[in-house]
Amino acid sequence: MQKSKNVGYGKVILFGEHFVVYGLPGIAAAMEDYTTAKVEKGKPGTGVVFSDNRPETPGYKETKLGERNRMMELMLKYLNIDPKKTPLKITLSGTLRCTSGNGSSAAMATAIARALSEHFGLGLNENQINDVSYEGEKGSAGTPSGIDNTCATYGGIIIFRKNLSGGPNKIDKMKVGKPIHIVIANTGITQETKLVVEDVKRHKDADPKKYERIFSDYNKVFESAKKAIEKGDMIEIGRLMDRNQELLREITVSCPEIEKICKIAKTAGAIGAKLTGTGRGGSVVLLAADETSQEKIAKAVEKIGFKTMETRIGV
Ligand code: MEV
Repeated sequence: MQKSKNVGYGKVILFGEHFVVYGLPGIAAAMEDYTTAKVEKGKPGTGVVFSDNRPETPGYKETKLGERNRMMELMLKYLNIDPKKTPLKITLSGTLRCTSGNGSSAAMATAIARALSEHFGLGLNENQINDVSYEGEKGSAGTPSGIDNTCATYGGIIIFRKNLSGGPNKIDKMKVGKPIHIVIANTGITQETKLVVEDVKRHKDADPKKYERIFSDYNKVFESAKKAIEKGDMIEIGRLMDRNQELLREITVSCPEIEKICKIAKTAGAIGAKLTGTGRGGSVVLLAADETSQEKIAKAVEKIGFKTMETRIGV
């Protein structure tokens, strides 16, 4: 089957979730897995009708129905399209499983933005597609940092810095030493990003000195991680992922399920293990040395009852 050009990639945050909210740099990667969208003319009076064929963690699409509709409304408004006048049928497909923490909502937003541009002949360039997707992301994340839609649109591995004064965020493509094999494990717990981000802020405001120290430690992790990824030094990347996880634990966004997955994965040979995305549930990223180790890690995690997906980044 030929891949549609209206794609949006899934993402994994390798380093820096939550820290990016405060302007610190993060490293995120697009996965090989993607969502595609097709936009067609709908029947009069139907507004926007979805046909959603994306694979999913049971219950995800139902839980996120409101977010999907909000996202759609925001993107259409931004593009000045009125579905009452021009009803639309949107078909979603692709290899990316919808689950919390892998950027599936941004992947969907990007794929739809591309399909809308094609359907209405808008000729949007990559930066404009990214802007439309960001607008859509507001429907699911409130005030998102923009890291998810950026990965979904441009692919590859990026260094991301949120512009705290509201201007464009800083995005730099990274050189990657070699493709990275990962396993994404799902805790089965869906979290609201907005609420967790707000709670972290409360903790930070209550103890600014502690957070100053944690932020400084994270900056050191980031600097070393950047070099390790460029060199393709898997052992060092893994060590730094573990260190990042310790810091995430300190800012209260880990949980027993995440810790359990990290522990079993390390026993099964994972070189590094940390939560990815929002935390307090959601997903965990596990670094594998190669394909054989990747399978072994996935099996061990599945055995204790968590769903996994195996993918590569930096390809
Ligand atoms: C969520 O995927 C990542 C967070 O850092 C929030 C954000 O960047 O918008 C927790």
